Amino acid sequence: MARILITSAIPYINGIKHLGNLVGSQLPADLFARYNRARGHEVMFICATDEHGTPAELAAAKAGKPVAEYCAEMHAIQSDIADRFGLSFDHFGRSSSDRNKALTQHFAGQLADNGYIAEVAEKQVYSNADGRFLPDRYIEGTCPNCGYDKARGDQCENCTKQLDPTDLINPRSAISGSTDLEVRETKHLFLRQSALKDQLDAWIDSKTDWPVLTTSIAKKWLHDGDGLQDRGITRDLDWGVPVKRGSEDWPGMEGKVFYVWFDAPIEYIAGTAEWADANGKSDADWERWWRTDKGADDVRYVQFMGKDNVPFHTLSFPATIMGSGEPWKLVDYIKSFNYLNYDGGQFSTSQGRGVFMDQALEILPADYWRWWLLSHAPETSDAEFTWENFQAGVNKDLADVLGNFVSRVTKFCRSKFGEEVPDGGSYGPEEQALISDLQSRLEAYQAHLDAIEVRKAAAELRAIWVAGNEYLQAAAPWAAFKTDPDRAAAIIRLSLNLIPVYAVLSAPFIPDASEKMLRAMKAETTAWPEQMHSALSMLSAGHAFEVPDNLFTKIEDASRMEWQERFAGTRA
Ligand code: MF3
Ligand code: ZN
Repeated sequence: MARILITSAIPYINGIKHLGNLVGSQLPADLFARYNRARGHEVMFICATDEHGTPAELAAAKAGKPVAEYCAEMHAIQSDIADRFGLSFDHFGRSSSDRNKALTQHFAGQLADNGYIAEVAEKQVYSNADGRFLPDRYIEGTCPNCGYDKARGDQCENCTKQLDPTDLINPRSAISGSTDLEVRETKHLFLRQSALKDQLDAWIDSKTDWPVLTTSIAKKWLHDGDGLQDRGITRDLDWGVPVKRGSEDWPGMEGKVFYVWFDAPIEYIAGTAEWADANGKSDADWERWWRTDKGADDVRYVQFMGKDNVPFHTLSFPATIMGSGEPWKLVDYIKSFNYLNYDGGQFSTSQGRGVFMDQALEILPADYWRWWLLSHAPETSDAEFTWENFQAGVNKDLADVLGNFVSRVTKFCRSKFGEEVPDGGSYGPEEQALISDLQSRLEAYQAHLDAIEVRKAAAELRAIWVAGNEYLQAAAPWAAFKTDPDRAAAIIRLSLNLIPVYAVLSAPFIPDASEKMLRAMKAETTAWPEQMHSALSMLSAGHAFEVPDNLFTKIEDASRMEWQERFAGTRA
């Protein structure tokens, strides 16, 4: 039994996430967490809301609410939607927690003690119309790298380049739209990433098994242009973690807060501490996941995120950990994703374009979305959501293949043998062939999941469902029943046995349908099928079951067209 720590990039608090966000981190992380729990490993799966910085302040201002109140409300909403999507976090924390404040200040203190913090008089953009500095998302303009005209002061959404507000061409205030801006000097703390460059470089080089998407982005930031730049980690904002050096005040930093990207990844650790607090556990209980001096040296730590998050997770956060000089756990594997596009354009939170998590659940159950999104995860390139493709995936894979198999087998059995597993002849060559085919597919499926090859795992699972269907079609128990009922009984006994096996194997993708299948089959064990041969004889003759309700309803053309139209515009 291994110990696996899993974190998903923590979503910004500003509103409900769209399906592109979901498939880029939380959903594949959940797949991996569920799979590893099913294999008997000890899993700690942490996510949280990312509550500081300009996204939170701007959204709260737009909602006309005090930012703390806005964040508390949105955290509850995001947490509820995550539940309804079946995201099985051990804890869904908040980066504004006291735990995160203390840890963030602690890390800053350690970094300063070790010489990795510089105090720099910095040029910041000041808006005369707004009477304030405009850090990060408070300023918008044209990206100097790719020419995208809605680039933000911290990063260009289009080309992922990290920016400083002063880099933008034709800048304007995101609050008022004013272009009456000037550059003023103010003092800020900088994380001396450049001093850790060689250490980071060697560390990235040692990660030979990482996805190219992850390492290529890290390498680009390490080596392109002038190489790794120091990053400002403080801001002139009200909302955030107050700048302190450990528990001490930091002279000259009064009224400033840490930059959201400094405290957000620390929330992975703090969120685990919040988990301990919420469950009556001790510090030792969370530290054994994070402190290599306190038991975490045998933990495998895997992070999930979209590609725009990669620089922060391959460079800035590791720099924080390394620079602390303390034995905190560094990430072992970073799984990053490209973007999912929506119907010929981009999903966009700021523009309300695409399907958002709450809307998705209003029209269809979570499993439909989970299956389609995971089986189309943007791993090797950007992927695209279209309603036609979604309809086809759901109808073919879930309804025609899996749902139909379960329904045919159980209904046929009920009509010929009653609602219990029939006794009858022994398994012949066709059954042996199916079992050995399934055994090798099972091994391939496990290998893909172990390697976090999400699409390949989905394709293998689908092939496992298809194998059962093809077997049933070829063995034709409805024909055999007329001449050789014993033969029909053997076919049905094996087919019924496939249902709980399918349920367990499919649970990481479609947990609700899996649950229904297990309930209908009154399965006594939900153990992972290590060996197909024994797994497929769990339900013996006489075992009672119930024909389940239809597992999946096909998406009609009319609904598809209605949704296509309903989600064509932008969300109000
Ligand atoms: N909130 C960020 C985003 O949605 C992700 C933060 S991940 C963490 O892009 F590392 F900061 F935690
Ligand atoms: Zn750009």
